[in-house]
Amino acid sequence: MGEFAVRKAKVYVPDTVAVEAIDILRQDFEVVYTPKENAVTPLSELLERLQDVDGLLVYPRVPIDKNLLDQAPNLRVVSNIAVGYDNFDLSEMAKQKVVGTHTPDVLTETTADLAFGLLLAAARRIPEANAFVKSGQWHANVPNLLAGTDVYGRIIGIVGMGRIGTAVARRALGFGMRVLYYNRRRRSDIENTMHVHYVHLDHLLQTSDFVVVLTPLTEETVHLIGRSQLEQMKPDAYLINVARGKVVDEQALIFALQNGWIRGAGLDVYENEPLPSNHPFLHMNQVVTLPHIGSSTVETRKAMALLAAENLRCALLGEKPPHMVNPEVWDGK
Ligand code: NAP
Ligand code: GLV
Repeated sequence: MGEFAVRKAKVYVPDTVAVEAIDILRQDFEVVYTPKENAVTPLSELLERLQDVDGLLVYPRVPIDKNLLDQAPNLRVVSNIAVGYDNFDLSEMAKQKVVGTHTPDVLTETTADLAFGLLLAAARRIPEANAFVKSGQWHANVPNLLAGTDVYGRIIGIVGMGRIGTAVARRALGFGMRVLYYNRRRRSDIENTMHVHYVHLDHLLQTSDFVVVLTPLTEETVHLIGRSQLEQMKPDAYLINVARGKVVDEQALIFALQNGWIRGAGLDVYENEPLPSNHPFLHMNQVVTLPHIGSSTVETRKAMALLAAENLRCALLGEKPPHMVNPEVWDGK
């Protein structure tokens, strides 16, 4: 009697992840792992490799859209190494019965650290001060040298009081701040345990010294912070965006900064990433620019990769994955 070889599911991992995640996947699947040192696999190359792939483990730079799905007839699961999943075209994934997963919780505290660090960096002009010293310009302790803005005891307004928003609120309370928040639904559960105040978005914008944006990017939140929102902010206030670039209207933000509607901004995310070399932000000292590193610590990126691998492993083996974003597609196969 001949033996039938059972085909192992094929998983494609185009970019660098913690090796432990690859080890997990190799136990059950054929794994194609094509990381480039200090670079990402070009989208064109990635698309060419999808023909017989069952599962993808990717960062959210990869758009999971009709173009990609049409080139991946066997694809059953896309496991995002991120909590945000605005790179998923959910209606197309539903049509093609592709399950999507993401990595909440494991990156919450790390991203909140970065958000609060960005707030401090913008308010106290830390990157400017560092560049000043390193470039040999520090010749005297002149009064008011690189004077910044107070943080302790000020008002913070958090737009999007979810996991990361709540973690930022905890840090802000430690800095003696009054915490206002705006969210799609009021979070009485959080209000019961933390001293935070739910307000309308307009009130938050008009009152806060620091507005921190932490909603996901959805159809509802595209340009949630636009010209008319920026116009309402205080002239000495700061906007901090660690969510997604498109939640803020970037042209409106540039105009607001250039015209002194607000004092500064701290940004980790942009409408187009990476930022082009002629972008106005690159020449604006009042804007602290980070390269989308909210969750980028060695420990957290490893935890995200492990959770993403676990999501993918479960889904491909027919076990319900821990963090599915479109459970309506799941049929257990
Ligand atoms: P989360 O727990 O889902 O929190 C998002 C919050 O935004 C929820 O409370 C949600 O309200 C609220 N929201 C959604 N739509 C809204 C709207 N139209 N108006 C007002 N509030 C709205 O997500 P998370 O884990 O905190 O992550 C938030 C986002 O941060 C991610 O989606 C991702 O894009 C971004 N992120 C960026 C980085 C980075 O590297 N820069 C790292 C991690 C995450 P409900 O309670 O009604 O759902
Ligand atoms: C990063 O941007 C994430 O959404 O996890």
